[in-house]
Amino acid sequence: MSRTELLAAAIETHQFRTKIVHVSSDLMRNFLLCCIGALFLCQVQIVLGSERIYNEQELQRGKYLFQNKCAVCHGQNGEGTVTNWQQRDEQGKLPPPPLNGTAHTWHHSIPVLFRTIKEGTGSLGGSMPAWDGELSDDEILLIINWITSLWSDEIYNTWRDKIASQ
Ligand code: HEC
Repeated sequence: MSRTELLAAAIETHQFRTKIVHVSSDLMRNFLLCCIGALFLCQVQIVLGSERIYNEQELQRGKYLFQNKCAVCHGQNGEGTVTNWQQRDEQGKLPPPPLNGTAHTWHHSIPVLFRTIKEGTGSLGGSMPAWDGELSDDEILLIINWITSLWSDEIYNTWRDKIASQ
């Protein structure tokens, strides 16, 4: 998949529905700005801006796939399975990190997360297995979608606004 196709697919799996909510909340804010006072509007924007919409069916599918394929190394809810995910082993390899927003994962864009899951990190000297052939592209996107649902609003919003589509 090319980068553009990937983002288009992510939009299809509703990864970016929240972005649409975000944009419309900006429109809403401008509209309200004309009508009411700036103070009230700040509050409205904070509430609308942090709204996150997930399709429940897609979320459950992503969770199911994750718990069957990934949880053995990354924990049932992405909490990780090691005490220190930054501690390399004797071969210099990193252990599986938590994916629930407490480690580094949210610093990666959708294309990077997608590639990491599809191709693994073997070629980079790591030990994350490749899932190409085992999971379809759509399934990978559904898993990424579910992983992002584990993140706090603060982390999710930063990722969505600055990192997701890089
Ligand atoms: C056999 C253990 C194992 C399984 C199973 C596994 N992973 Fe990993 N994963 C790892 C390891 C080890 C790393 C760290 C690799 C590295 O840094 O090179 C990693 C890294 C990652 C990263 C990058 C995290 C970051 O912060 O950079 C993501 C995303 C990820 N895995 C997602 C998944 C998903 C999704 C699945 C299931 C489809 C999965 N992993 C299954 C071992 C595993």
